[in-house]
Amino acid sequence: MIRSLINSQVQLSYKFDTYLPNKYSLDGNSDYRKSLVPKYLKKNLTIYDVGGGKRPYITLEQKKALNATIIGLDIDQDELNQAPEGVYDQAICADIAKFQGNQDADLLICQAVLEHVQDVEGAFASISSILKPGGIALIFVPSKNAVFAQLNLILPQEAKKTLLHTIYPTMKEGQGFPSFYNKCTPLEFKELAKNNDLSISEERYYYMSSYFSFLFPVYFVWRLWILLFHGLFKEQAAETFSLVLVKNDNPAMTSSENTN
Ligand SMILES: C[S@@+](CC[C@H](N)C(=O)[O-])C[C@H]1O[C@@H](n2cnc3c(N)ncnc32)[C@H](O)[C@@H]1O
Repeated sequence: MIRSLINSQVQLSYKFDTYLPNKYSLDGNSDYRKSLVPKYLKKNLTIYDVGGGKRPYITLEQKKALNATIIGLDIDQDELNQAPEGVYDQAICADIAKFQGNQDADLLICQAVLEHVQDVEGAFASISSILKPGGIALIFVPSKNAVFAQLNLILPQEAKKTLLHTIYPTMKEGQGFPSFYNKCTPLEFKELAKNNDLSISEERYYYMSSYFSFLFPVYFVWRLWILLFHGLFKEQAAETFSLVLVKNDNPAMTSSENTN
């Protein structure tokens, strides 16, 4: 009874979206997985999956077909241990905020991870250190500016988990990690990229999330907010976003090099 009520509200919410421009219905995570990352997959690459944990982006079949070397880097050894066997050629248990890379990555995938990292500045420095010159980082992150992110910061962890799993039992695993959203806005990420020898080659902004669809009146008010916010502040209103960052060939001189 409650389930069919929720389903009807979800349908109504999505029906409402058909009256809005298409970009409001594009799910960021799906676009990242199905459109953005595949664009950058080529044969014989060394690929880091930062925060890939038990759900690496690349499957074993893809890895074989691409002849890729996959390095999983995650703060949690248990997560790495649960990854499908054979996907990771190397599993590094480390905090991305503290890791010092050796510039051996052609491609770095970082999907739904940086919102869980406290020291995002450290993470950007680390990402830059992992990439070869010309190497590419594909980052997908929910924005701190999103209403769901603000609620996530306010509500206690257990209450959030229970609420989400009750309303959306099929919601993907991984929603339960503590989130901080430190500097997780398009403006701040672009600034961090610039400060870490990373050029932005592509940016995608998404205005879709399903969190409020369980009750149409709430969804409607949230949609009005998004439209107003976007009208005033453009991509800062995005719920989630993806950035494609390219490690500069000639990194800017460090301050120590500069002193001579
Ligand atoms: C929400 S899951 C995302 C997993 C996968 N990337 C995906 O999209 O399905 C977040 C992952 O980031 C990892 N993680 C969190 N903080 C991290 C940090 N500081 N350094 C490295 N990994 C971290 C977690 O252990 C977890 O595996």
